[in-house]
Amino acid sequence: MPATRVRRAYSCGACGQQAPRWVGRCAGCGEWGTLVEEPFGSPPARPSLGPVPTPVRLADLADVRPERLPTGLAELDRVLGGGLVAGSLVLLGGEPGIGKSTLVLQALARLSAGHKVMLVTGEESPAQVRGRAERLDEPCDAIEVLAETRLEAVLAAIEAHRPAVCAIDSVQTLRSGLLEAVPGSVAQVRQSTAELVRLAKEGGTTILLVGQVTKDGGLAGPRTLEHMVDCVLSFEGDDLRAHRVLRATKNRFGSTNETGLLEMGAAGLASVDDPSRLYLAEAGERVGSCVFPAIEGSRALLVEVQALVGPTELVPPRRVAGGVDRTRLAQIIAVLGRHAGLRLGDRDVFVSVAGGARAVDPAADLAIALAIASGHRGHPLPAGTVAFGELGLTGAVRPVGHTARRLAAAAAHGMQMALTPPEPEGSASTPAPSAIRAVPGVGEALDAVFARTRG
Ligand SMILES: Nc1ncnc2c1ncn2[C@@H]1O[C@H](COP(=O)(O)OP(=O)(O)OP(=O)(O)O)[C@@H](O)[C@H]1O
Ligand SMILES: [Mg+2]
Repeated sequence: MPATRVRRAYSCGACGQQAPRWVGRCAGCGEWGTLVEEPFGSPPARPSLGPVPTPVRLADLADVRPERLPTGLAELDRVLGGGLVAGSLVLLGGEPGIGKSTLVLQALARLSAGHKVMLVTGEESPAQVRGRAERLDEPCDAIEVLAETRLEAVLAAIEAHRPAVCAIDSVQTLRSGLLEAVPGSVAQVRQSTAELVRLAKEGGTTILLVGQVTKDGGLAGPRTLEHMVDCVLSFEGDDLRAHRVLRATKNRFGSTNETGLLEMGAAGLASVDDPSRLYLAEAGERVGSCVFPAIEGSRALLVEVQALVGPTELVPPRRVAGGVDRTRLAQIIAVLGRHAGLRLGDRDVFVSVAGGARAVDPAADLAIALAIASGHRGHPLPAGTVAFGELGLTGAVRPVGHTARRLAAAAAHGMQMALTPPEPEGSASTPAPSAIRAVPGVGEALDAVFARTRG
């Protein structure tokens, strides 16, 4: 009789493709390191079900609002929608060195005033964590620190100590003894996240999971990871500058429109109370600059769109977009050429939003167009001008939402003139700049601001 061989099968964690043996790269989707071992053989006997479950009518369910644990960090709470939801799992992703560990430690410090909190550190030694804690202006003494990378040990520690909030820094360092794959591989990251989600739901511990981000900006691990968790936060910024932007790309308990703005300083991350001041620090009456009143969730803030237009020998010329959508930029340049007589075919055009902010809302079209026109003509817009409105392919300026809030933000920062789409819905009671010019088309908008400098 031949010796019984243990038979194995593998399947891809990203696309589900089956393979008879382990290979580094999935033949189905081309992802590396995604194959995980699966039990192989005849399917197990159908488990006995017991009594048939009965569904419940929604109306008969008790109205339970999720319990929130405000972290006390205003910007983090705003992005979460009012604080961490008890028993949820939040994934915090960000590039190396952006300040993830700092944010997590500050949140735990604030929470530790009223809750039991734990920090599982796989990337740094407890001594390093202590060093950071001493630098922060926060009461960190009550935080319990566990230096551990074995998933099963982490799960057991959470179950035994039952913290209200447990932060894990980072998911890429966890390793389950049940899998052969190396820490940080798709299989390990997925297994760790699945187990932590289960623990959060069953045990009521809120888990804050730190995740590294790959070079192309995605969270390292399969996209399925984002489906498994309740909330995905991304922490971005330009590390040359001191400020950082926190956004929710997924939130089962709140909006994904909110942004948090923080500043990294010697004592850790601090909220930026008036973001417009930060973004407008360099604005003024300058060539190639136009202020746009942007709506970010519950707040309106002024950002500065900058454009640099110059001659080029390149065919096609360069169109470089930072913080604005590339396709929209190409479209705006085409509309300016066709409907405002701006010939940019032999010009490089660089557009970016100052301070690392973004203006991806179509309402930014008019401000982008005016910044480019200013850069091309070499004349600044009149001081204190803001502009908003979507540009159609016909050159028409289309109405956009939140007119009253945009005008109020402009007025609050002392702006005197607003270029708006026709028939702005603003009411007389809301504050607004003293001069409002409703422009039906991009040509009229240019005439309104460059009247004296035409030709
Ligand atoms: N003394 C200090 N004063 C001001 N800023 C500091 C100081 N020490 C560190 N920083 C800032 O903190 C950042 C590192 O923060 P942190 O370790 O929280 O980042 P991280 O996202 O967790 O990084 P990693 O990916 O390495 O885990 C540094 O890039 C630096 O900007
Ligand atoms: Mg870190």
